[in-house]
Amino acid sequence: MIKFLTFLLLLISPVIASDVINQRQDSMQDFNKLMRAANQSLKNSEIEILAKIYGDIESIMKTYPTLFPNDSFDGKTKASNDIIDNREIFNQIANDTAEWAALAKIAAENNDLEALQQHQQNLYGSCKSCHSRFKN
Ligand code: HEC
Repeated sequence: MIKFLTFLLLLISPVIASDVINQRQDSMQDFNKLMRAANQSLKNSEIEILAKIYGDIESIMKTYPTLFPNDSFDGKTKASNDIIDNREIFNQIANDTAEWAALAKIAAENNDLEALQQHQQNLYGSCKSCHSRFKN
């Protein structure tokens, strides 16, 4: 029975891996769209919906590091396997990004346009910090 289960696991693990790859790529697509929506809302000073947008970004970045199991670096992915050896740095960048989103959410709730613009810039900076090191 154990042998059979092990065999089954081996058989489906590439499927699980590719699923997690799709999930993290979808997360990035969402993140990208949310950032554009935030930009637009900032331009039009539509502060009300920004709190929701930044809340969504925060939850994406909080779960993001869980989508990189060691066996998910083959196939249709641009994730660098540097992530495996440098998880602390990778997680830290994701954490900081989540934190900026949380601060941006608070700034939106407080109607603080100046702080919002600063946090939005920090969020944009995160793309490069992470991609330059962890995306092929
Ligand atoms: C904590 C690290 C990290 C941060 C922060 C980050 N990214 Fe990414 N991003 C990645 C990695 C890793 C990949 C490659 C994922 C893969 O192909 O498996 C990626 C891939 C992408 C992709 C391609 C998705 C696809 O469909 O293949 C887009 C678009 C993207 N990122 C946009 C952004 C934008 C915009 C930002 C900032 C606003 C950002 N990312 C911030 C790590 C990050």
